[in-house]
Amino acid sequence: MKIALLGYGKMGKIIEKIAIDRKHEIVLKIDHDNQHDLTAENLQKADVAIEFSTPATVLGNIEHCFNAGVPIVVGTTGWYDQMPKIKQQCQEGDNSFIYATNFSVGVNIFFHINRILAKLMNKHPYYEVQVEEIHHIQKLDAPSGTAITIAEGIIENLDAKKQWVNILTDTNNPADDNAKVDDVLIESYRIDSVPGTHTVIYDSEVDTIELKHTAHNRNGFALGAVLAAEWVQDKKGFFSVEDMFDLA
Ligand SMILES: NC(=O)c1ccc[n+]([C@@H]2O[C@H](COP(=O)([O-])OP(=O)(O)OC[C@H]3O[C@@H](n4cnc5c(N)ncnc54)[C@H](O)[C@@H]3O)[C@@H](O)[C@H]2O)c1
Repeated sequence: MKIALLGYGKMGKIIEKIAIDRKHEIVLKIDHDNQHDLTAENLQKADVAIEFSTPATVLGNIEHCFNAGVPIVVGTTGWYDQMPKIKQQCQEGDNSFIYATNFSVGVNIFFHINRILAKLMNKHPYYEVQVEEIHHIQKLDAPSGTAITIAEGIIENLDAKKQWVNILTDTNNPADDNAKVDDVLIESYRIDSVPGTHTVIYDSEVDTIELKHTAHNRNGFALGAVLAAEWVQDKKGFFSVEDMFDLA
């Protein structure tokens, strides 16, 4: 498979290595300093594009792939308010698109257990739920896309919760949260080089239940993105990673 990498930062470089290990070929690499190479002609040399850039640049890159008719895998987070527009453009133009807030297999298993646990906790209203996420200090968006998916999984299954609220917390200087009873509080921490840690906490007066996922490095995200490229290259339509990982 021939791959175009849109975004050649921390993730783009790991994806390149894993793709080559899996016998794929990188035919185009686009970063902030070679935008002029992002032409339909160059994109069409690839069977699929993998996009890990920034919230400010992802929409333009998706549009280029749609115009060139090249399937795209999107890992960039922090732009999901635009998703309905992208879904419509994808379907109207007969394009191929797959995205994930988190491409790791382990996190997608975690998402599934989180939904089951939230449904179960409906019978136990004396537990209060909260989500915590920790990421490296260069991360541009807060809360993480992964934490949003976790909170949405809780809201869909736990009747008492209607929406999420976020606070970015400084460990030395904890912020007050103004969460209401029907809010899921997401606390975000930015610490050194942490690749990504997410915890769902159900706390009562007598005990605490914690469901935690810790990424040890970025390889799991990168492998998932390459698997998504292999999966989507011969499909048409708008997909999320749940369509690919059969966890039912
Ligand atoms: N979905 C997932 O599984 C997953 C996992 C890890 C990271 N992410 C997300 O992926 C994105 C990238 O993460 P990263 O750690 O590689 O960040 P990074 O900052 O290391 O890399 C981003 C790269 O994009 C480049 N860039 C800037 N403008 C561009 C443009 N117009 N076109 C192409 N590239 C451009 C930057 O120069 C930089 O090299 C972030 O949004 C992050 O939250 C998602």
